[in-house]
Amino acid sequence: MSPQVPVKIILGTHTIGDVAQMPGLIHFDNEKDVQGLLDAFHSRGYRDLDTASNYPGSEARLGQTGAASRFTMHTKVRGMGNGDSEPSKIELSIKKSLEDLQTSTVDTMFLHVPDRQTPLEDTAKAMNDAYLQGRFKKWGISNFTAAEVEELIKICETKGYVKPSVYEGHYNAIVRGGEKELFPLLRKHHMAFFAYSPAAGGIFSDKTSTTARWSKDNLIGNLYSTLYGKAPVQTAVATVRDSAAKHGISGHAAALRWTAFHSILDGKYGDAVLFAVSKMEQLYDTLDAIEAGPLPTDLAEAITAVYATVEGSEPPYHL
Ligand SMILES: NC(=O)c1ccc[n+]([C@@H]2O[C@H](COP(=O)([O-])OP(=O)(O)OC[C@H]3O[C@@H](n4cnc5c(N)ncnc54)[C@H](OP(=O)(O)O)[C@@H]3O)[C@@H](O)[C@H]2O)c1
Repeated sequence: MSPQVPVKIILGTHTIGDVAQMPGLIHFDNEKDVQGLLDAFHSRGYRDLDTASNYPGSEARLGQTGAASRFTMHTKVRGMGNGDSEPSKIELSIKKSLEDLQTSTVDTMFLHVPDRQTPLEDTAKAMNDAYLQGRFKKWGISNFTAAEVEELIKICETKGYVKPSVYEGHYNAIVRGGEKELFPLLRKHHMAFFAYSPAAGGIFSDKTSTTARWSKDNLIGNLYSTLYGKAPVQTAVATVRDSAAKHGISGHAAALRWTAFHSILDGKYGDAVLFAVSKMEQLYDTLDAIEAGPLPTDLAEAITAVYATVEGSEPPYHL
């Protein structure tokens, strides 16, 4: 069944930035290329960008091209989880993001990863303070466990702080662990879900052996190839590809369309799909795929069924 309201489509910008800092993973560095990508996305009618202070040079390049004046911006506090959600660091990170983005406020400010060294009370207070200063319209959390989400919400309720209203998490046809424990909680607290890696980082496109995104030589490639490396997952990926091919649809397009139209996501809750591209052609292909709408019913059902074969071996929805 398709969602009652279409999900929002957001362009992820981890591929925009300083190539020298992440060769092979960043593909849009100079102003002309960044502007070209954003213009093409905008001209198709889309208005949301996701970035992060962790993505080297992404916010600064978006700022240089005036992105915040024509897009709704979602960004994230700097952090790898090691004491970086301490209040003074949150404050500094938000200040720097807004400077780099050349704007006084953004739509959403996420905590990028859980910081299990800093008390959640301190983090919640820092986000509430920044909210009251008008730095963002809403705040979100990314990669937290359901238990951590619940605890954070309780703290905000007890202290009278503004609550997080969006969760950004790993979700696609193979990564569905959040459906059981996370989504009921999000729905209960009226939190939206932004699904990252809706096409599992490109694994369904059958080129993982050739791209940096899956190379064990870099941090992200190593993470994704490890997360998706188990045999049942690889078999499931091949099943999705083969089923899609019978309909003349690419594995990548089928995976994206499944996440957008046949998953637990629903625009009525404010849910979104957050994709990325490493080339302009991929932007056009991706938007064409999404705009093609729901999949043929038997293909959608075949992809939905694949999860039962990987449950327990799949990457977790949280860090
Ligand atoms: N909050 C978080 O912790 C977090 C984590 C991850 C991502 N994100 C956000 O989510 C965004 C999207 O994540 P993602 O990159 O994992 O999403 P994705 O859309 O599942 O994967 C994107 C990758 O798929 C490949 N691809 C794209 N279009 C293609 C096409 N038409 N045909 C074949 N392959 C294609 C490209 O890989 P190649 O480069 O190999 O060509 C591209 O880099 C990021 O930019 C970021 O904003 C957030």
